[in-house]
Amino acid sequence: MSRAIDSTAARLRQVPPALDVERLRAEFPILKQKVHGKPLVYLDNAATTQKPQSVIDVLGRYYGEINSNIHRGIHTLSQRATHDYEEARAKVQRFISAHSSKEIVFVRGTTEAINLVAQSYARPRLRSGDDIIISEMEHHSNIVPWQLLCEQTGAILKVIPINDAGELIIEEYKNLLGDRTKIVNIAHVSNALGTINPIKAIIEIAHAHNVPVLVDGAQGVPHLRVDVQDLDCDFYAFSGHKLFGPTGVGVLFGKAALLDAMPPYQGGGDMIKAVTFKKTIYNDLPYKFEAGTPHIAGVIALGTAIDYVSGIGLDAIATHEHDLLDYAINAATEIPGLRLIGTARQKTSIFSFVMDGIHPHDLGTVLDNEGVAIRTGHHCAMPVMEHFGVPATARASFALYNTRREIDYLIAGIKKACQVLM
Ligand code: ALA
Repeated sequence: MSRAIDSTAARLRQVPPALDVERLRAEFPILKQKVHGKPLVYLDNAATTQKPQSVIDVLGRYYGEINSNIHRGIHTLSQRATHDYEEARAKVQRFISAHSSKEIVFVRGTTEAINLVAQSYARPRLRSGDDIIISEMEHHSNIVPWQLLCEQTGAILKVIPINDAGELIIEEYKNLLGDRTKIVNIAHVSNALGTINPIKAIIEIAHAHNVPVLVDGAQGVPHLRVDVQDLDCDFYAFSGHKLFGPTGVGVLFGKAALLDAMPPYQGGGDMIKAVTFKKTIYNDLPYKFEAGTPHIAGVIALGTAIDYVSGIGLDAIATHEHDLLDYAINAATEIPGLRLIGTARQKTSIFSFVMDGIHPHDLGTVLDNEGVAIRTGHHCAMPVMEHFGVPATARASFALYNTRREIDYLIAGIKKACQVLM
């Protein structure tokens, strides 16, 4: 590798990693490639994670060996597919410590899960003038479905503000909750800032008002151990692709009593017990919410991704990622004009920043030429950008396979961008 690495940063690279990262990296074929002639440094894990060979193999094996529809056939392949699909549901149940696999609904992703709750749980319960609480740090998937619902019902959207570290102002949250609040919807972890929200306390406060809480866990499950019974959340949503699984598949956890009382979100095959032109009897949980042929291969591979993450251990992953974040923050102090966006006391491995005099997109282009992939833009969280008075940030987000050396390349690339662009 010919890139220059800053000597101070290299000196800091002494502490042994908590994980055997080189062994883990070898399991991700995409990380072996070069981009613009440089080894790929993939630091866009909050947008999507790369896939280990075991997940890729399961997708291929499904289509090569057992492809068939589930819950429909008595033939061998259909039974195998059904078995593997339902086994993945049990893996998800254990992964988030849900009480029952009936509480695990497979959806396309976090976005669909939130829209499902908005339309199927909240909409029938809302009257004009009721309110829905979200926060200023939500990404668009946890804003727009609620705005649509407000347009449909005349409900009012209330927003918990954040402070300049990017933390929720809990006193303001308490003030917003009222007799007409029907649901609270909060990110477990902010995608733009990395803030870990005190979700258990937020839920307790809402429950004291008999208000249910949906947790957007898209950025939570890849980094934190989640126990939905301990949190006592009413709904928890996450996506497979941010958890080393495939795109196009995700999970909605919902308490059985709530899901049971909700009408189906979509109508179609598999969500029914009997159909006549007079009346349709809906299927039991969780099938009532899984209309049509689902992403069978994706669900099975999500189960494999969960096996993968569980095999490594979320605590070990979090320790490693924190080390990377601390290392990056430390190295960033050497770069004049770099301002971190998101300095919460409790954070995951999101390193979001702006540079004086350099647009994030220009910075991202220089870094891409160095083989370093970060995300630049508003991160689907425009209100967060508005809060910090910036149109966009540059965001590096670290995962279990990243290394301190890769952060050295990031820092060297930012310094190069300063020379080229300023
Ligand atoms: N919400 C995803 C991100 O943060 C797409 O990049």
